[in-house]
Amino acid sequence: MTTAQCPTTARHLLSITDLTDEDLAYVLARAVDFARGNRPSRPPLDGDIVGVYFEQTSTRTRTAFSSGALRLGAQLVTYGPDDLQTKTGETMVDTIRVLSGMLDILVARATLSPAALAELATQSTMSFVNAMSAEEHPTQALADLTTLLCHFGRIDGLRLLYVGEGNSTAAALALALTRFPDVELTLCMPPGYGLPATVRAVAVEQARRCGAVLTERHEMAGLPTKVEVVYTTRWQTTGTAKADPHWRETFAPFHVNGGLWKANPDAVFMHDLPAHRGQEVTADVLDGPFSLAFQQAKHKLHSAMAVLEWCRSPVGTR
Ligand code: CP
Repeated sequence: MTTAQCPTTARHLLSITDLTDEDLAYVLARAVDFARGNRPSRPPLDGDIVGVYFEQTSTRTRTAFSSGALRLGAQLVTYGPDDLQTKTGETMVDTIRVLSGMLDILVARATLSPAALAELATQSTMSFVNAMSAEEHPTQALADLTTLLCHFGRIDGLRLLYVGEGNSTAAALALALTRFPDVELTLCMPPGYGLPATVRAVAVEQARRCGAVLTERHEMAGLPTKVEVVYTTRWQTTGTAKADPHWRETFAPFHVNGGLWKANPDAVFMHDLPAHRGQEVTADVLDGPFSLAFQQAKHKLHSAMAVLEWCRSPVGTR
């Protein structure tokens, strides 16, 4: 479920598909503005209270939204995995009902049941931002697209190769990039670890509508050449576990090393981090001259600021 289906007047970002084309363009333009050091003359979140709740570990996303909220003039209330009464059995529905009377925005890396999503749909005061769920990592995709815009000056027409699991980062990337004309995104994923069918269906339909191309592969032989971006993520996504005890054998061929640059000499390298050097990527690539991984991490802040600002802009103004 995305909030595009919800009758609400608060802006929520559960999925990248919650952003209209206009919203997406606006958020990315603002993220690029923030990356260039442009700041609004008045702090747009002055007087607002932003809750930051992480059930799971996070370095980048949690800090980006916390730092971003403070930089935009808000005050913070932060919760770790053991702080809320959800830990003692209170439902997420009741939690959202209570917090929506006290917070302006809740940024959360948390599991939301269908009932919790329905509760979000009925309240109209508190914006909710998905800071990564099992299904999707929408704010990572916004940071990634901000990185592409800052580096290439465009997204249209880029050719990208993603190597790794069809995880929440890959899902968000596919749902975001297939909205841009002439983008060619090839996802090379271990067999059995591809995109969820629901994500694939939406991304394929978007690609058809927007003139992008999405290709899924499950072997490392015969990859596209002369791509502009090679992207990977770590094999073990935060908060997930794999049922197959032999999954490492399946994943072993799906890693990025310097050999990929023979066929893609001008490609930049991207990684959402955290990275495990020697697993999904070799150290010479991650720390090498083509790597944008740490710029990408910095753009988590700029895109978080853009999302927070968007959340507090009145519905109907863009
Ligand atoms: N890329 C990312 O989401 O990093 P964190 O898990 O550290 O937030």
